Amino acid sequence: MSEPKKLFIKTYGCQMNVYDSERMAEALGGKGYVETKVQEEADMILLNTCHIREKAAEKVYSELGRLRPLKEAKPDLKIGVAGCVAQAEGEEIMRRAPLVDLVVGPQSYHRLPAMEDAVQSGAKALDTDFPEEDKFEELKSRPKAHRGPTAFLTVQEGCDKFCAFCVVPYTRGAEVSRPADRILREARELVDAGVREITLLGQNVNAYHGHEGGLAGLIWALAEIDGLERIRFTTSHPNDMDDALVAAIGDCSKLMPYLHLPVQSGSDRILKAMNRKHTAAEYLDLIARIRAARPDLLLSSDFIVGFPGETDQDFEQTMDLIRTVNFGQAYSFKYSSRPGTPAAEKAQLPEAVKNERLARLQALLTEQQRAAQNSMVGREVGVLFEKAGRLKGQMIGKSDYLHAVYVQAPIEVLGQTRRVRITESAPNSLGGVLIN
Ligand code: 5AD
Ligand code: SF4
Repeated sequence: MSEPKKLFIKTYGCQMNVYDSERMAEALGGKGYVETKVQEEADMILLNTCHIREKAAEKVYSELGRLRPLKEAKPDLKIGVAGCVAQAEGEEIMRRAPLVDLVVGPQSYHRLPAMEDAVQSGAKALDTDFPEEDKFEELKSRPKAHRGPTAFLTVQEGCDKFCAFCVVPYTRGAEVSRPADRILREARELVDAGVREITLLGQNVNAYHGHEGGLAGLIWALAEIDGLERIRFTTSHPNDMDDALVAAIGDCSKLMPYLHLPVQSGSDRILKAMNRKHTAAEYLDLIARIRAARPDLLLSSDFIVGFPGETDQDFEQTMDLIRTVNFGQAYSFKYSSRPGTPAAEKAQLPEAVKNERLARLQALLTEQQRAAQNSMVGREVGVLFEKAGRLKGQMIGKSDYLHAVYVQAPIEVLGQTRRVRITESAPNSLGGVLIN
């Protein structure tokens, strides 16, 4: 038998790309590829790219530059670009980087096997269609091989919101929900393979409408699966947070008390310019309702500083909103102008202003994150153990609130959810002891 071909995938950007990379590896598995973690031994290298900010997109071209010597030493090596940069700049990539053999967008990667045939015969292959067919149906069902206890599962793709700064509606297309029966089947397969926690993914996951009752309906159906212990979902939009979902956050015991709900800014003027279609007060009211349903919820958000036209006063309103909500976790970015988006036409703020605001915002968010973490000390939480740590006997898992938790524990805890008493708080993790 011939040696299997080796595939190396480098994934950038969001969790949906992590999921897509797995599915691409599975698709190419049918063509005899096995994954390798060693780039130098690969027969095919795929870069699964992100286009969300300028820096993310630039990384692709610098990475392709770094791959040139490898390709020269090994002319049979095939190099592919997938993901959102592929979607946005397909032909441009082929022009700028002649070493690229294959370009595939996020909606057409089920066609990778046929594209692989083409590149093996020496052709170049480019596919950035938004095909009619459902790529997940075209892909084989998930292999039953043993896997770790956590998995991502894409349930919804695309975005119709058109925030003025964002490329996603262009790179990922319109909002599409996967049919619930297929999601439930995939979830059962994952649980049969050892998965205990599933994170439902979507660019606007709470706009999911493939099940009666929307995302809440899907969550309740998933909660029926024996062996599935934890459910999470990300990323949500405030305007799609319906009453049923708020109620599920309070009532569904398998749904974990962590919610990522981006607000982007605390200024109504900027929210309007961003086309977010909600005010700061509406966001705060929603948070109050969610917290009434689940008082211990840990809240996370995304923030953009330095959006065109943002004044000192607008920025202070964002700081005020952060103080009012008190976030347990957050991601923050300097505004990055993206070609083709409405905000790209507007005058940019000086880099120094963006830097100063980002530093102040991050200092406040870090303070809140540390305080939230420190408040865990002395409490009991569920921890799903995922891997062994570097120290002898140390196991690492995630708390219900998504904190990394380090515990001295026997190896049998891997894949199990155990009760842990938190005893210490370090900058980005907690320490604890098993109590059962
Ligand atoms: N500049 C900076 N941040 C952006 N995001 C999306 N587009 C941009 C941009 N052009 C951020 C938003 C979004 C997160 C995924 O990335 O905060 O919620
Ligand atoms: Fe981008 Fe806004 Fe859609 Fe989120 S909701 S993916 S930020 S356009």
